[in-house]
Amino acid sequence: MNYPTVKPLSVTDLAGMKQRGEKISCLTAYDASFSALIDHVGIDIMLIGDSLGMTIQGHDTTLPVTVTDMVYHTRCVCNARRRAFLIADLPFMAYPTPQIAAKNAAKLMQCGGAQMVKLEGAKPGIVSFLAEQGIPVCGHLGLLPQSINQLGNYAVQGKNPIDADKIRADAHQLEQSGAALLVLECVPAKLAKEISTQLSIPVIGIGAGVDCDGQVLVLQDMLNIGITKRPRFAKDFMQQTKSIEGAINAYHQAVKQSLFPTNDHSF
Ligand code: KIV
Repeated sequence: MNYPTVKPLSVTDLAGMKQRGEKISCLTAYDASFSALIDHVGIDIMLIGDSLGMTIQGHDTTLPVTVTDMVYHTRCVCNARRRAFLIADLPFMAYPTPQIAAKNAAKLMQCGGAQMVKLEGAKPGIVSFLAEQGIPVCGHLGLLPQSINQLGNYAVQGKNPIDADKIRADAHQLEQSGAALLVLECVPAKLAKEISTQLSIPVIGIGAGVDCDGQVLVLQDMLNIGITKRPRFAKDFMQQTKSIEGAINAYHQAVKQSLFPTNDHSF
């Protein structure tokens, strides 16, 4: 019998990386080919983000993405994964109640192979219910793309003291509710640094400065192959190399050495 020699990272491996001060690298992935490449480079987490609504499906927002779409892409990524930890997004309206959230999270885990689900916003009741069922949860605060019709635009969040206090308080509440990871999107670097220092769970930033415990980017943004304008916080890693593998490796190394993001990619 041939046992696999590489085991996927676990939630405790990620917690250990935070404790050791080792930066966590994360990229979005949506299919098996990129999954194999990203995993081969050594990226720690692959996020099957509902950003696939824009990058893969060509919609203007993430709102049309369904649980069925998410399960399909999570399974594609999982099939080619060896080491990377897998997080899948619960899409828009997939978690209006704890029970519906649990049912949809179970689909992402049982049919897709996700090890953790991510949900947007301050939803401590949903997070604690999922955590009680043994479902690892990643919170997501700051800019919430699923709320774009309420927000009106994709602007930086938490710039004034009242908004910053709310994001800080929500982060603590999510940790207390049982979240095992937190994504902070488009918030001032100073606020993200404070939250990352105060929480014991790993905090992964996107447009949130260099002092988070890890970084995530949308794959198409860092390869500069997106169909929409690249956000200011994303760097084109293809500029310094001739291959996709080289670009992913450059991103991975830059995150590990705290060389990305620079002030140019932060707020
Ligand atoms: O959907 C996604 O890709 C995300 C990242 C931008 C964090 O949530």
